[in-house]
Amino acid sequence: MQIPVPVDFAEANSAGYPAKKEDGMETDSVFQMAASNIRFGTGCTAEIGMDLRDMSAGRTMVLMDPNLRSLPVAEVVMDSLRQQGIDFVLFDEVSVEPTDASFQHAASVAADGNFDAFVAVGGGSTIDTAKAANLYSTWPADFFHYVNAPIGDGQPVPAPLKPLIAVPTTAGTGSETTGVAIFDYVEKQAKTGIAHRYMKPTLGIIDAENTKTLPPAVAASSGLDVLSHALESYTAMPYLDRPKPEGPLHRPAYQGSNPVSDIWALHALKLMAEFLPRAFADTSDDEARANMMLAAAIAGIGFGNAGVHLPHGMSYPVAGMVESFQPKGFDVDHPLVPHGMSVILNTPAVVRFTAPACPERHLQAAAALGADTYGVSTDDAGEVLAERVIYFMQLMQMPNGLEHIGYTAENIPALVEGTLPQHRVTKLAPRPATEKDLTFLFQQSMKIWPKTSTGVCDAL
Ligand SMILES: [Fe+2]
Repeated sequence: MQIPVPVDFAEANSAGYPAKKEDGMETDSVFQMAASNIRFGTGCTAEIGMDLRDMSAGRTMVLMDPNLRSLPVAEVVMDSLRQQGIDFVLFDEVSVEPTDASFQHAASVAADGNFDAFVAVGGGSTIDTAKAANLYSTWPADFFHYVNAPIGDGQPVPAPLKPLIAVPTTAGTGSETTGVAIFDYVEKQAKTGIAHRYMKPTLGIIDAENTKTLPPAVAASSGLDVLSHALESYTAMPYLDRPKPEGPLHRPAYQGSNPVSDIWALHALKLMAEFLPRAFADTSDDEARANMMLAAAIAGIGFGNAGVHLPHGMSYPVAGMVESFQPKGFDVDHPLVPHGMSVILNTPAVVRFTAPACPERHLQAAAALGADTYGVSTDDAGEVLAERVIYFMQLMQMPNGLEHIGYTAENIPALVEGTLPQHRVTKLAPRPATEKDLTFLFQQSMKIWPKTSTGVCDAL
């Protein structure tokens, strides 16, 4: 079938999915757009002290990545608090990749400190740690009570938390807009998290001054994370296909694609396509950096209410099982697959796999990323989108597949095993992925270009 695919919001919202309801399952007919409160603008970090004063905050816990202590953003934040007479304690023991232990450590410091408010300054790790510290010090419980099932009990947060102001210093995670906190569960070598809309920060401070020192390799990986958030939330299962919850408290933060999240996702893709190449090529390009921060927050608002799916679910074992890879441009002394890289390496294979479930959406996403989709057949939607994603991967100097970060075919069963418990996100794929499908997707992600197979899963 040949169809023109214009990209505008009205088209995007009406993009159809095939009916796909399981027998006997009562599905939801409701979605909720939990608002994220963000403030955007150069220099707005200096206003934080006034915000805390206006909230009548007494004691405040400031969480900070230890690498930031010597950077200007740390002084700007602390000066702002001092000027308003805010009584604060600096906690700079945040782990770059938080674990269950580091979350619990921050939570116990928060509980002992009897704080009224929290400020998180850093990347997703710092903001996520602050969310956990706020949660467990406000509503104490066994650590696994709130952790996503099946690893934890997946219980909802019972009521709102204390104020948390998030100051991102990277442009990727969107954590300042979401109610999700991700950590490594060390015992099981698995990444999982805690997710509830009450975990959303009270205010996100989007200030391009705070990404001035971001190295290009970090900007590339975090920028591709933005691309993934927007793409996955736009192609996620529609909210109407998700099981009906027992009440609003139990409706997940990740609800599936919905008409409001779609708007944010498509706009984030367009911003990303325009500004990521510029931000990567020239770190002094203030306009590009500011727009990438905006794209990250906009994508965060979208996926924070819709969710992500297979590329993120598959990324957790890819990041967790790495043995020796150390990325160029990252100041680390241990093996690491940066989050955005671990996600994007799975994306071309996934979009080829998921396109048959909602080809129009895949084409609209490709068009938002700058691909020429006029007259393209829906049969080619997955390929066109995969090629467009690969274009950005190559521009951002990503490795050509999992084999370039140390994985071989022998690792695939373990990678599949590590993906299966991530069903909080993988179940939002527009097309269900079995163990056999996941095996195929990891096989296809070993080497991404040039493409050597048909990309057609034999489990079809
Ligand atoms: Fe992500």
